[in-house]
Amino acid sequence: MENLTLAEKGKKRVDFDRKEMPVLSQIKEEWAEEKPLEGKKVSCCLHITTETAVLMETLIAGGAEVRLCPSNPLSTQDDVVAYLNDIGITTYGKRGDSEEEFYQNIIKCLEIKPQVMIDDGCDMTTYYLNEIEEDFPGFIGVCEETTTGIIRLRAMENDGALPFAAVDVNGSQIKHLFDNYYGTGQSTITGLMAATNRMIAGTDFVVVGYGFCGEGVARDAAGLNARVHVVDAEPVKSLRACMDGFNALDMDEAAEIGDIFVTATGNKHVIDGEHLAKMKDGAILANSGHFNVEINLDWLSDNAVTSETVNENVMKYELEDGRELYVLAEGRLVNLCAGQGHPASVMDMSFAGQALSARWLFDNQGELTNKVYQVPTEIDNEVASIKLSSKGMKYQQLTEAQIDYLNSWEEGT
Ligand SMILES: NC(=O)c1ccc[n+]([C@@H]2O[C@H](COP(=O)([O-])OP(=O)(O)OC[C@H]3O[C@@H](n4cnc5c(N)ncnc54)[C@H](O)[C@@H]3O)[C@@H](O)[C@H]2O)c1
Repeated sequence: MENLTLAEKGKKRVDFDRKEMPVLSQIKEEWAEEKPLEGKKVSCCLHITTETAVLMETLIAGGAEVRLCPSNPLSTQDDVVAYLNDIGITTYGKRGDSEEEFYQNIIKCLEIKPQVMIDDGCDMTTYYLNEIEEDFPGFIGVCEETTTGIIRLRAMENDGALPFAAVDVNGSQIKHLFDNYYGTGQSTITGLMAATNRMIAGTDFVVVGYGFCGEGVARDAAGLNARVHVVDAEPVKSLRACMDGFNALDMDEAAEIGDIFVTATGNKHVIDGEHLAKMKDGAILANSGHFNVEINLDWLSDNAVTSETVNENVMKYELEDGRELYVLAEGRLVNLCAGQGHPASVMDMSFAGQALSARWLFDNQGELTNKVYQVPTEIDNEVASIKLSSKGMKYQQLTEAQIDYLNSWEEGT
């Protein structure tokens, strides 16, 4: 690929991944005929990857005016930015943007005064709410991609501070059961391996957070023959980890055991100074939760006698007693910042959910109140059916008699 321009390189990679995205491709084809988003404006704040490019093409095919900026300063794929701008889809950002540039990109994206936002982690949403004084004319609401963003939106809803409708795309079955579980599982391991090329087999591998993402990471680490240990803050999740064959423990104990640590909690400082202080020499730390707050990096900076980059995406911190700890991708999402992010096949479903949810907001404009909505079941079923048939598989259709039976209470023993 040496003689290609950045945009040509991006195009080749997007074309390659589009093959794995039959659901979004079908929606794009249908929308190109129907134009359901004609004259509508959508601003998107998402990780800029090949799959995001296919979502943007779909929204454009539907007739929308679209702008895109990154939802994380380290996950941006510059060739995809070049490709999208080359085909006329206004896209901002570059890998390694400063915090100031990150917010400048959001501001530029919002200049079109969208009616709908598609957000990942809620940074665009909170910027609109806190920093922009006017209400955009005809603003309807936001579709949110990830667990962390939904936590923020629900907190706003509970405080009566949510001034528009929001769709919990993360909560849809076609998203969290596949993207968080299989997608984060596989891509976290590949991101970790890309950054370190370390052997996973035979290591003591600590997963912090046994939600949908953590379960996937634990499953895939175990698949590579690691001894997996799980730390979770809920007894039920910890018991599940135990029944799944893993060692459930708390962070104090795990800190002394682990060779590799992956956090996926959506919470702050789940690996804190007191844990870092007793880790083994050579321990590797990575995060797959949305923000770079899960590992207390300030403690490391304050307590390290030296720190240096030893490999792309690997920062070594040397502590006073000579122990060395390695942090991957500055504690940001390791799968996206040190790897290529989720496989296209799984993003096909998440982004089909985003496209259909954005349309649902437009179609239901006027009937919506200021709350967080679940993705309608019909969208889950539509996406899953197309995906299943693209794999040449089927599901069982119920007979009328069976539907009646399942809805009745009279029949018993
Ligand atoms: N890397 C990615 O590409 C990707 C993809 C999807 C979601 N995410 C992000 O990953 C994070 C987790 O998402 P999820 O869907 O698994 O959430 P989840 O709510 O299903 O699971 C989070 C788990 O963390 C546990 N937890 C909270 N505080 C903890 C602590 N101090 N110690 C140990 N465990 C603790 C909770 O009990 C819960 O079981 C979120 O920030 C989400 O936005 C990342």
